[in-house]
Amino acid sequence: MDAAATDPVKGSVIELREIHKVYTTGGGQEVHALRGVSLDFIEGGSVALMGSSGSGKSTMMNILGCLDRPSSGLFSLDGIDVSGLSREQLAELRNERLGFVFQNFHLLARTSALENVEMPMLYHRAPLSTRQMRERALEALDRVGLADRAGHLPNQLSGGQQQRVAIARALVNQPRILLADEPTGNLDSSTTLDVMQLFQELITEGLTVILVTHEPELCRFLRRTLVLQDGRIIQDQHRDTTQSAVEAKQAYIAANDSETKEAL
Ligand SMILES: Nc1ncnc2c1ncn2[C@@H]1O[C@H](COP(=O)(O)OP(=O)(O)O)[C@@H](O)[C@H]1O
Ligand SMILES: [Mg+2]
Repeated sequence: MDAAATDPVKGSVIELREIHKVYTTGGGQEVHALRGVSLDFIEGGSVALMGSSGSGKSTMMNILGCLDRPSSGLFSLDGIDVSGLSREQLAELRNERLGFVFQNFHLLARTSALENVEMPMLYHRAPLSTRQMRERALEALDRVGLADRAGHLPNQLSGGQQQRVAIARALVNQPRILLADEPTGNLDSSTTLDVMQLFQELITEGLTVILVTHEPELCRFLRRTLVLQDGRIIQDQHRDTTQSAVEAKQAYIAANDSETKEAL
Protein backbone atom coordinates (compact mmCIF):
# COMPACT_ATOMS: atom_id res chain seq x y z
CA MET A 1 0.00 0.00 0.00
CA ASP A 2 1.36 3.46 -0.77
CA ALA A 3 1.47 6.34 1.70
CA ALA A 4 -1.52 8.08 0.16
CA ALA A 5 -3.69 5.10 0.98
CA THR A 6 -2.60 4.83 4.61
CA ASP A 7 -2.29 8.41 5.82
CA PRO A 8 -5.48 9.90 7.19
CA VAL A 9 -6.77 12.80 5.13
CA LYS A 10 -7.17 16.06 6.98
CA GLY A 11 -10.74 16.75 7.98
CA SER A 12 -11.94 13.25 7.23
CA VAL A 13 -14.93 12.02 9.21
CA ILE A 14 -14.63 8.47 7.94
CA GLU A 15 -11.51 6.49 7.14
CA LEU A 16 -11.64 3.06 5.53
CA ARG A 17 -8.42 1.09 5.02
CA GLU A 18 -8.34 -2.21 3.15
CA ILE A 19 -11.86 -3.13 4.16
CA HIS A 20 -12.93 -6.66 3.31
CA LYS A 21 -16.28 -8.25 3.94
CA VAL A 22 -16.84 -11.95 3.50
CA TYR A 23 -20.29 -13.43 4.11
CA THR A 24 -20.69 -17.11 4.79
CA THR A 25 -23.98 -18.42 3.49
CA GLY A 26 -26.07 -21.18 5.04
CA GLY A 27 -24.49 -23.75 2.73
CA GLY A 28 -21.01 -22.72 3.94
CA GLN A 29 -20.23 -20.81 0.74
CA GLU A 30 -18.18 -17.64 1.03
CA VAL A 31 -19.21 -14.43 -0.71
CA HIS A 32 -16.51 -11.78 -0.92
CA ALA A 33 -18.71 -8.63 -0.93
CA LEU A 34 -15.94 -6.04 -0.37
CA ARG A 35 -12.38 -6.63 -1.54
CA GLY A 36 -10.02 -4.10 -0.03
CA VAL A 37 -11.79 -0.75 -0.02
CA SER A 38 -9.71 2.25 1.15
CA LEU A 39 -11.45 5.62 1.22
CA ASP A 40 -11.72 8.88 3.14
CA PHE A 41 -14.88 10.88 3.48
CA ILE A 42 -14.43 14.51 4.40
CA GLU A 43 -16.55 16.59 6.71
CA GLY A 44 -19.45 18.15 4.87
CA GLY A 45 -18.76 16.06 1.77
CA SER A 46 -21.49 14.62 -0.40
CA VAL A 47 -21.03 11.30 -2.11
CA ALA A 48 -23.03 9.28 -4.60
CA LEU A 49 -22.29 5.58 -4.36
CA MET A 50 -23.09 3.71 -7.56
CA GLY A 51 -22.61 0.24 -8.98
CA SER A 52 -24.69 -2.57 -10.38
CA SER A 53 -26.76 -4.85 -8.20
CA GLY A 54 -24.55 -7.09 -6.06
CA SER A 55 -21.49 -4.83 -6.34
CA GLY A 56 -21.36 -4.27 -2.56
CA LYS A 57 -23.14 -0.94 -2.05
CA SER A 58 -25.44 -2.06 0.77
CA THR A 59 -22.62 -3.97 2.43
CA MET A 60 -20.57 -0.80 2.41
CA MET A 61 -23.46 1.28 3.78
CA ASN A 62 -24.05 -1.29 6.55
CA ILE A 63 -20.41 -1.06 7.57
CA LEU A 64 -20.37 2.74 7.39
CA GLY A 65 -23.56 2.77 9.46
CA CYS A 66 -22.04 0.49 12.13
CA LEU A 67 -24.83 -2.01 11.43
CA ASP A 68 -22.30 -4.64 10.45
CA ARG A 69 -18.57 -5.12 10.97
CA PRO A 70 -15.92 -5.62 8.30
CA SER A 71 -14.22 -9.03 8.17
CA SER A 72 -10.88 -7.21 8.11
CA GLY A 73 -9.48 -3.72 7.64
CA LEU A 74 -9.66 -0.49 9.56
CA PHE A 75 -12.75 1.68 9.89
CA SER A 76 -12.72 4.82 11.92
CA LEU A 77 -15.48 7.33 12.43
CA ASP A 78 -14.64 10.78 13.78
CA GLY A 79 -11.23 9.39 14.72
CA ILE A 80 -12.72 6.51 16.71
CA ASP A 81 -11.56 3.02 15.72
CA VAL A 82 -14.90 1.29 15.42
CA SER A 83 -13.50 -2.26 15.65
CA GLY A 84 -12.69 -1.76 19.31
CA LEU A 85 -16.25 -0.86 20.36
CA SER A 86 -18.78 -3.07 22.12
CA ARG A 87 -22.29 -3.53 20.73
CA GLU A 88 -23.64 -0.94 23.16
CA GLN A 89 -20.97 1.59 22.22
CA LEU A 90 -21.68 0.98 18.54
CA ALA A 91 -25.39 1.55 19.07
CA GLU A 92 -24.63 4.77 20.90
CA LEU A 93 -22.31 5.99 18.15
CA ARG A 94 -24.95 5.15 15.57
CA ASN A 95 -27.70 6.94 17.43
CA GLU A 96 -25.69 10.07 18.12
CA ARG A 97 -23.74 10.60 14.92
CA LEU A 98 -25.53 8.84 12.09
CA GLY A 99 -28.86 9.24 10.36
CA PHE A 100 -30.37 6.58 8.09
CA VAL A 101 -32.77 6.80 5.19
CA PHE A 102 -33.93 3.71 3.30
CA GLN A 103 -35.66 2.99 0.01
CA ASN A 104 -38.80 1.68 1.74
CA PHE A 105 -38.95 4.49 4.31
CA HIS A 106 -39.16 2.02 7.25
CA LEU A 107 -41.82 4.01 9.08
CA LEU A 108 -43.92 2.36 11.77
CA ALA A 109 -47.35 1.87 10.22
CA ARG A 110 -49.76 2.58 13.06
CA THR A 111 -47.73 5.47 14.38
CA SER A 112 -48.12 9.14 13.49
CA ALA A 113 -45.47 11.08 11.58
CA LEU A 114 -44.61 12.94 14.79
CA GLU A 115 -44.17 9.74 16.82
CA ASN A 116 -42.07 8.19 14.05
CA VAL A 117 -39.76 11.18 14.19
CA GLU A 118 -39.61 11.01 18.00
CA MET A 119 -38.44 7.39 17.89
CA PRO A 120 -34.62 7.90 17.77
CA MET A 121 -34.83 10.20 20.80
CA LEU A 122 -36.16 7.35 22.95
CA TYR A 123 -32.66 5.88 22.93
CA HIS A 124 -30.85 8.96 24.22
CA ARG A 125 -28.30 8.44 26.95
CA ALA A 126 -29.68 11.51 28.72
CA PRO A 127 -33.46 11.05 28.42
CA LEU A 128 -35.44 13.97 27.08
CA SER A 129 -38.79 15.03 28.44
CA THR A 130 -41.92 14.26 26.42
CA ARG A 131 -42.21 17.94 25.66
CA GLN A 132 -38.61 18.28 24.49
CA MET A 133 -39.04 15.28 22.21
CA ARG A 134 -42.23 16.71 20.80
CA GLU A 135 -40.63 20.09 20.14
CA ARG A 136 -37.59 18.61 18.43
CA ALA A 137 -39.69 16.25 16.34
CA LEU A 138 -41.90 19.13 15.23
CA GLU A 139 -38.83 21.20 14.33
CA ALA A 140 -37.49 18.32 12.24
CA LEU A 141 -40.86 17.89 10.51
CA ASP A 142 -40.94 21.62 9.87
CA ARG A 143 -37.42 21.38 8.35
CA VAL A 144 -38.71 18.93 5.74
CA GLY A 145 -41.87 20.95 5.12
CA LEU A 146 -44.31 18.64 6.89
CA ALA A 147 -45.19 20.40 10.13
CA ASP A 148 -48.85 20.32 9.08
CA ARG A 149 -48.81 16.53 8.67
CA ALA A 150 -47.54 15.69 12.17
CA GLY A 151 -50.69 13.76 13.13
CA HIS A 152 -50.97 11.76 9.90
CA LEU A 153 -50.28 8.04 9.75
CA PRO A 154 -47.84 6.84 7.05
CA ASN A 155 -50.68 5.45 4.90
CA GLN A 156 -52.27 8.90 4.89
CA LEU A 157 -49.16 10.36 3.28
CA SER A 158 -47.76 10.16 -0.27
CA GLY A 159 -44.51 8.29 -0.91
CA GLY A 160 -42.56 11.53 -1.10
CA GLN A 161 -44.08 12.74 2.16
CA GLN A 162 -43.29 9.42 3.86
CA GLN A 163 -39.68 9.71 2.74
CA ARG A 164 -39.55 13.24 4.12
CA VAL A 165 -40.86 11.98 7.48
CA ALA A 166 -38.07 9.38 7.36
CA ILE A 167 -35.56 12.16 6.65
CA ALA A 168 -36.91 14.19 9.58
CA ARG A 169 -36.48 11.09 11.75
CA ALA A 170 -32.90 10.73 10.48
CA LEU A 171 -32.18 14.38 11.32
CA VAL A 172 -33.80 14.61 14.73
CA ASN A 173 -30.67 13.66 16.69
CA GLN A 174 -28.59 16.13 14.65
CA PRO A 175 -26.26 13.57 13.08
CA ARG A 176 -22.93 14.41 11.43
CA ILE A 177 -23.49 11.92 8.64
CA LEU A 178 -26.59 10.89 6.74
CA LEU A 179 -26.54 7.49 5.04
CA ALA A 180 -29.19 7.00 2.41
CA ASP A 181 -29.57 3.66 0.58
CA GLU A 182 -31.51 4.35 -2.63
CA PRO A 183 -33.76 6.91 -0.94
CA THR A 184 -35.52 7.79 -4.18
CA GLY A 185 -35.79 4.22 -5.50
CA ASN A 186 -39.54 4.08 -4.83
CA LEU A 187 -40.39 7.65 -5.80
CA ASP A 188 -41.55 9.11 -9.11
CA SER A 189 -39.22 11.54 -10.90
CA SER A 190 -40.86 14.72 -9.70
CA THR A 191 -40.82 13.59 -6.04
CA THR A 192 -37.25 12.36 -6.50
CA LEU A 193 -36.26 15.91 -7.41
CA ASP A 194 -37.94 17.35 -4.30
CA VAL A 195 -36.12 14.88 -2.09
CA MET A 196 -32.77 15.52 -3.82
CA GLN A 197 -33.28 19.25 -3.43
CA LEU A 198 -33.83 18.71 0.29
CA PHE A 199 -30.62 16.65 0.52
CA GLN A 200 -28.76 19.40 -1.31
CA GLU A 201 -29.98 22.01 1.19
CA LEU A 202 -28.86 19.81 4.08
CA ILE A 203 -25.44 19.38 2.46
CA THR A 204 -25.17 23.16 2.10
CA GLU A 205 -25.91 23.42 5.82
CA GLY A 206 -22.88 21.20 6.51
CA LEU A 207 -24.29 17.67 6.75
CA THR A 208 -22.14 14.88 5.29
CA VAL A 209 -24.32 12.80 2.96
CA ILE A 210 -23.53 9.39 1.45
CA LEU A 211 -26.22 8.28 -0.95
CA VAL A 212 -26.61 5.07 -2.92
CA THR A 213 -28.33 5.51 -6.24
CA HIS A 214 -28.88 3.73 -9.55
CA GLU A 215 -29.58 6.95 -11.40
CA PRO A 216 -26.49 8.67 -12.87
CA GLU A 217 -28.43 11.95 -13.15
CA LEU A 218 -28.67 12.18 -9.36
CA CYS A 219 -24.87 12.33 -9.05
CA ARG A 220 -25.05 15.94 -10.18
CA PHE A 221 -26.54 16.86 -6.82
CA LEU A 222 -23.43 15.59 -5.02
CA ARG A 223 -19.74 16.47 -5.07
CA ARG A 224 -18.23 13.06 -5.47
CA THR A 225 -19.18 9.87 -7.28
CA LEU A 226 -17.84 6.47 -6.29
CA VAL A 227 -18.48 3.40 -8.40
CA LEU A 228 -18.26 -0.09 -6.92
CA GLN A 229 -17.80 -3.21 -9.00
CA ASP A 230 -17.39 -6.69 -7.50
CA GLY A 231 -16.48 -5.22 -4.14
CA ARG A 232 -13.87 -2.80 -5.41
CA ILE A 233 -13.95 0.94 -6.06
CA ILE A 234 -13.38 1.32 -9.79
CA GLN A 235 -14.12 5.03 -10.10
CA ASP A 236 -13.74 8.00 -7.75
CA GLN A 237 -14.71 11.27 -9.34
CA HIS A 238 -14.82 14.70 -7.71
CA ARG A 239 -16.70 17.75 -8.90
CA ASP A 240 -15.41 21.22 -8.03
CA THR A 241 -18.93 22.44 -7.53
CA THR A 242 -22.26 20.77 -7.53
CA GLN A 243 -24.85 22.10 -9.89
CA SER A 244 -27.41 24.28 -8.26
CA ALA A 245 -30.60 22.46 -7.43
CA VAL A 246 -32.28 24.23 -10.33
CA GLU A 247 -29.59 23.22 -12.85
CA ALA A 248 -29.41 19.69 -11.55
CA LYS A 249 -33.17 19.54 -11.78
CA GLN A 250 -33.17 20.71 -15.40
CA ALA A 251 -30.51 18.17 -16.33
CA TYR A 252 -32.49 15.47 -14.58
CA ILE A 253 -35.66 16.43 -16.42
CA ALA A 254 -33.81 16.49 -19.74
CA ALA A 255 -32.62 12.95 -19.07
CA ASN A 256 -36.07 11.75 -18.08
CA ASP A 257 -39.43 11.28 -19.69
CA SER A 258 -41.80 13.89 -21.04
CA GLU A 259 -44.24 12.89 -18.32
CA THR A 260 -41.97 14.55 -15.75
CA LYS A 261 -41.75 17.70 -17.80
CA GLU A 262 -45.51 17.97 -17.73
CA ALA A 263 -45.64 17.25 -14.00
CA LEU A 264 -43.32 20.16 -13.26
N1 LIG B 1 -26.13 -11.41 4.46
C1 LIG B 1 -25.54 -11.88 3.34
N2 LIG B 1 -25.16 -13.16 3.27
C2 LIG B 1 -24.55 -13.65 2.15
N3 LIG B 1 -24.27 -12.90 1.07
C3 LIG B 1 -24.63 -11.61 1.10
C4 LIG B 1 -25.29 -11.03 2.23
N4 LIG B 1 -25.53 -9.71 1.96
C5 LIG B 1 -25.04 -9.50 0.72
N5 LIG B 1 -24.51 -10.63 0.21
C6 LIG B 1 -23.84 -10.77 -1.12
O1 LIG B 1 -22.80 -9.82 -1.17
C7 LIG B 1 -22.72 -9.21 -2.45
C8 LIG B 1 -22.93 -7.71 -2.32
O2 LIG B 1 -24.27 -7.45 -1.93
P1 LIG B 1 -24.84 -6.01 -1.62
O3 LIG B 1 -23.88 -5.30 -0.75
O4 LIG B 1 -26.22 -6.18 -1.12
O5 LIG B 1 -24.83 -5.37 -3.08
P2 LIG B 1 -25.65 -4.12 -3.67
O6 LIG B 1 -26.24 -3.35 -2.55
O7 LIG B 1 -24.64 -3.35 -4.46
O8 LIG B 1 -26.70 -4.71 -4.56
C9 LIG B 1 -23.76 -9.91 -3.30
O9 LIG B 1 -23.14 -10.96 -4.00
C10 LIG B 1 -24.74 -10.45 -2.29
O10 LIG B 1 -25.40 -11.58 -2.77
MG1 LIG C 1 -28.28 -2.78 -2.15
